[in-house]
Amino acid sequence: MAKLNLNQEIKKVEKRLNDIIVSNDPVIEEAALDLLASGGKRIRPAFVVLSSQFGEHTTEDTYRIAVALELIHMATLVHDDVIDKSDKRRGKPTIAKQWDQDIAILTGNFLLALALEHISTVKHERVHHVISHAILDVCRGELFQFQDQFNANQNVVNYLRRINRKTALLIQLSTEVGAITADADDKTVHKLKRIGHYIGMSFQIMDDILDFTSTEKQLGKPVGSDLLNGHITLPVLLEMRNNSEFKQRIQQLNANNPKEEFQHCINVIRASSVIEEAQRVSDHYLAKTLDLIESLGNEDAKKLFNKIINKMAKRNK
Ligand code: IPE
Ligand code: IPE
Ligand code: MG
Ligand code: MG
Repeated sequence: MAKLNLNQEIKKVEKRLNDIIVSNDPVIEEAALDLLASGGKRIRPAFVVLSSQFGEHTTEDTYRIAVALELIHMATLVHDDVIDKSDKRRGKPTIAKQWDQDIAILTGNFLLALALEHISTVKHERVHHVISHAILDVCRGELFQFQDQFNANQNVVNYLRRINRKTALLIQLSTEVGAITADADDKTVHKLKRIGHYIGMSFQIMDDILDFTSTEKQLGKPVGSDLLNGHITLPVLLEMRNNSEFKQRIQQLNANNPKEEFQHCINVIRASSVIEEAQRVSDHYLAKTLDLIESLGNEDAKKLFNKIINKMAKRNK
């Protein structure tokens, strides 16, 4: 296969996204286009196209899947922001903030439906099977997160299961299905699936760390918001293990506590070595990814893959 220009490929996907976001309702269309125009790293489409390089040939289906996975991702962001009552996304007011919650819910549904329509021409039965399963699991992940708000009796295994569902699965889909659409052999598809899984796990752990260590300006979304919403993430779980006073505070934490109580807990995490500890867990997943990439064919695509992974390891947004 000819050498891939990933920036150019992403531009192609963005053009398609712009072209297909059309609704009978001008408000929903504007809200969806606004979210699209506000940027985003587009890592899911990038992994779809990149993974297709390990097959026979990139196809029309490859691009359709790349578009659909970004749309599904956008839908989950919109709904996640409703649940978290978040007012900022990608540096801009969220849809609920700019319009209202109903518009946000409808826009999320619209994006999801659009994604499914866009892949309705894809012939691989397996693709539809894995995608519908993944969407169900993302819903489960968000539901469990919702049910576990302010539940201090969770362990790291619960956490890993949850982030697998809500985040890793969609990234795993992008690498797995990207390879399937290019008719990669089964062994390669399986490897790419595992690569996507590990990338996704590392990615969400980093996102959870950045929620403590970064700034709203840098991230384009609120910081410290996980704990405020009662989401118990890896740094908190690790700190609870070593610090009984902190554990008690988290056990007593609820949505009615004053802001200062949350801020105190956030400050404890920020100053703690659990940030590095969590980073090591994330790096561990990335190391597994790099090992697997090493075992693939196509040297040019491997180099690109490694480049993206290394960039991700240093990401600050
Ligand atoms: C944010 O995803 C939600 C998570 C799964 C952590 P991204 O960090 O990929 O969001 P954008 O698309 O770049 O805004
Ligand atoms: C992302 O997790 C989960 C989704 C499926 C959208 P987060 O809740 O950490 O995402 P951000 O931090 O709001 O982007
Ligand atoms: Mg959120
Ligand atoms: Mg987050």
